[in-house]
Amino acid sequence: MGYLSKRILVTGGAGFLGSHLCERLLAEGHDVLAVDNYFTGRRENVAHLLNNPRFEIMRHDITFPLHVEVDEIYNLACPASPVHYQFDPVQTTKVSVVGAINMLGLAKRVKAKILQASTSEVYGDPTMHPQPEEYRGSVNTIGPRACYDEGKRCAETLFFDYKRQHNLRIKVVRIFNTYGPRMHPNDGRVVSNFIMQALRGEDITLFGDGMQTRAFCYVDDLIDGLMRMMAADDAVTGPINLGNPEELPMAHLARRIMALTGTPSRIVFRPLPADDPMQRCPDIGKARALLGWEPAVQLEDGLMRTVEYFRRLLMSKEEGSYFFEKK
Ligand SMILES: NC(=O)c1ccc[n+]([C@@H]2O[C@H](COP(=O)([O-])OP(=O)(O)OC[C@H]3O[C@@H](n4cnc5c(N)ncnc54)[C@H](O)[C@@H]3O)[C@@H](O)[C@H]2O)c1
Repeated sequence: MGYLSKRILVTGGAGFLGSHLCERLLAEGHDVLAVDNYFTGRRENVAHLLNNPRFEIMRHDITFPLHVEVDEIYNLACPASPVHYQFDPVQTTKVSVVGAINMLGLAKRVKAKILQASTSEVYGDPTMHPQPEEYRGSVNTIGPRACYDEGKRCAETLFFDYKRQHNLRIKVVRIFNTYGPRMHPNDGRVVSNFIMQALRGEDITLFGDGMQTRAFCYVDDLIDGLMRMMAADDAVTGPINLGNPEELPMAHLARRIMALTGTPSRIVFRPLPADDPMQRCPDIGKARALLGWEPAVQLEDGLMRTVEYFRRLLMSKEEGSYFFEKK
C-alpha cells in the first residue's frame, strides 16, 4: 500500500468503469463512497463489494448538490455511449455541466482533489491522427453527439476555471474507448455489440465498410491510469489522454470475436451513423512521460475475459435487470 488510507468519492460508482475503480481503491485500503442514480449502472456491478465495511453506495443524482466529507473525488457519472447519452440529451448536458459544478463545489468546500473523466469525444471528428492533447477538436455543436461532446468540453473548462479561480487541485483525463467485464450489454458500442451478437448467434452488424479503425483499452489498464493520475504531483493537471494506441479496423475486430466465440453468425453491413468518426486513436506520449503509464493487457486476453463475462451474463439472465433493455 505504502500510503495513508483516504476517503474517496466515486460518482458513477455502479457503472462499468466506476465499479472497477471502487474495487481497486478498496483493495488499496481506502474508504470508498460510490454515488450513482443507476441510469446506466446497476447494483449488481458492486454487489460483491457490499460486505466490505470500507464500502458504501448511495443513490444520488449528481445534478443535485452533495455534502460529504472526502479527500478525493473521481467524477465518472455520465452516460457514456451514444444510445444512452442521446436518450435524454438535455439531461446528458446537465450531468456533465451541472454535475461538474456540484462536484467542483464539493471539492472546493472540503478541499478535495478532484479528477474528471473526460473523453476522446472532445476531439469530435478529428482531422489529426493520433490525437495529442493540444489538438482542439472538431465538434459539431448542433449534432446528435453534441450533448455529450460539448457537455464534456464545458466540464473541462469548469475544471480549469475552478483551478484558476479557486486554486483547486484538479486532474482531467481524456478516456478513449475502453472495454471489459461489466460493460453494458446493450450500449450499442462496438465491442459489446459484436460479442452479444456473436453469443446469441445473430448477424454481426458492421457500420460503413468496416475499415474505420478504433483502439481499445482494457479496463484494468485504464483504472491503473486513473489512479496514477490522481496520485501524480499537483502540477500534473492534464488534460491527459488515456487509451490504447493500437488501432484496429472494425472488420478485424468482428472476425477476432467470431473466432473467440466460435459463433455461426454472419457479418452484415449497415450505413455509418451521423457524425461517427472514421478514426480515433490516442497519442499517449504525455501519459507515458508524466505517469509512467501505458496499456499492458493484450487485446486477445481482454476480449477473452469480456466474452466470458457476457457469456455468464446471458446464462444468468441478469441482463434483464438493466434499465435499458434490448429493443
Ligand atoms: N467506457 C469508455 O470507453 C469511456 C470513454 C470515454 C469516457 N468515459 C467516461 O467515463 C465515465 C464512466 O463511463 P462508463 O463507461 O463506466 O459508463 P457507465 O454508463 O457504465 O457509467 C456511468 C455511471 O454514471 C451513472 N450516472 C449517470 N448519470 C448520473 C447522475 N446524474 N448522477 C449519478 N450517477 C449518474 C450511471 O448510472 C452509471 O453507473 C463517464 O463519465 C464517461 O463519459 C468512458
